[in-house]
Amino acid sequence: MAHAAAHQLDVQRVEELNDAEMGELCEATDAAIIEGGGFGWLGPQGRAPLERHFRGVLLVPERELFVARMDGHIVGSAQLVRPPRNNEAQAFAAQLTHAYIAPYARGFGLARLLMKRVEEYAAAAGHRVLNLDVRETQSTAIALFEAVGYRHWGTHPFYARADGRTVAGLHYYKLLEPGRGRKTDALISESQ
Ligand SMILES: CC(C)(COP(=O)(O)OP(=O)(O)OC[C@H]1O[C@@H](n2cnc3c(N)ncnc32)[C@H](O)[C@@H]1OP(=O)(O)O)[C@@H](O)C(=O)NCCC(=O)NCCS
Repeated sequence: MAHAAAHQLDVQRVEELNDAEMGELCEATDAAIIEGGGFGWLGPQGRAPLERHFRGVLLVPERELFVARMDGHIVGSAQLVRPPRNNEAQAFAAQLTHAYIAPYARGFGLARLLMKRVEEYAAAAGHRVLNLDVRETQSTAIALFEAVGYRHWGTHPFYARADGRTVAGLHYYKLLEPGRGRKTDALISESQ
């Protein structure tokens, strides 16, 4: 891995973005799409559609947007999807999605930091399970998820279509500790 100390790394949840930040975010997103992953889009979108997407994300109450910065510039993002209010039965779980770092900022530990910040936020919000799914072709992401403790519980054989072929998807979860109330392990084993 490259030398992280050479760069200033930062991950934050954002509720608004100025024009320059939005430009960086859209550029990073298109760069990741071109390289092949992190979003459902299969080809670069350009600024307007991506900006519409991110403005929408900022408006949706159940979606939290996290941005990764290198030396002050946005180079990646992730979204945390929390269950809607009517879904009380699954209020304990949340979903991590659309996590990527632009190719020009990879290998410095930003994705690790992004995962950590999203998990900390989800745990502080009271969630005890974080779910995610990923195309089986995203080997770097899979190595990272497994390295930071995600457990593979199932494979969907018909998960996505990309470049004219069907791709399987791997489903993972990780248990979180909210830091208050009963321990997650105790809570789960008690009800099994
Ligand atoms: C997966 C991804 C987010 C990793 O971003 P990153 O900032 O480069 O990752 P980090 O620098 O934090 O490295 C985390 C781990 O990834 C792996 N990794 C990173 N760069 C790697 C490389 N060049 N070759 C192999 N493994 C690598 C290592 O396992 C590393 O662990 P380490 O800290 O023990 O070395 C990035 O490659 C990406 O955006 N990929 C495409 C999008 C995607 O697949 N997203 C998941 C779908 S939701």
